Amino acid sequence: MTFTSLSVELVDCIVQLQNSCFPDGWDKKMLLDGLNNGLLGIVAIDNDEILGFITYSKNIDFAEINDILVAPAFRRQGLAKQLLNRIELLLKEKTQKIFLEVRESNFPAINLYKSAGFKQISVRKKYYSDGENALVMQKEL
Ligand SMILES: CC(C)(COP(=O)(O)OP(=O)(O)OC[C@H]1O[C@@H](n2cnc3c(N)ncnc32)[C@H](O)[C@@H]1OP(=O)(O)O)[C@@H](O)C(=O)NCCC(=O)NCCS
Repeated sequence: MTFTSLSVELVDCIVQLQNSCFPDGWDKKMLLDGLNNGLLGIVAIDNDEILGFITYSKNIDFAEINDILVAPAFRRQGLAKQLLNRIELLLKEKTQKIFLEVRESNFPAINLYKSAGFKQISVRKKYYSDGENALVMQKEL
């Protein structure tokens, strides 16, 4: 397995993976627009297959995680944790805080973030189009 930066060439494969297992992910247009506007990402690849990825954006002294996804067959093997660790290493020189939003029913993701040191700081009521609340979580670097 290797890790590479998110690029336009990988967007189709990422969208395909999302469509197969995570309806909340950004669509192709959003990802391409994002890349044009500073969206960053790390992608885990093995033999041309995308195993997982994380996307995030950087501001002056904080960063925001947009999405993290691991292909179902590769879950519970520590890959999401590795992706989080990698962006933290890249960010820690200039970034003080990382924020993210997560569906309040998404226990695997909430557990992941808690195990990585994120803490819930607030709730965004009816944040998602189906009316579900989002938990806002933060980690200080
Ligand atoms: C959430 C997700 C990225 C986790 O990926 P993963 O590679 O399986 O996670 P890891 O193996 O690194 O797990 C790290 C820790 O997270 C927690 N965790 C991960 N999956 C979990 C699950 N299904 N149930 C409970 N805790 C879970 C555990 O604490 C785990 O540590 P452990 O395995 O030692 O118990 C993956 O389930 C996924 O892609 N889900 C769909 C996309 C999604 O919901 N993204 C979040 C958007 S906000």
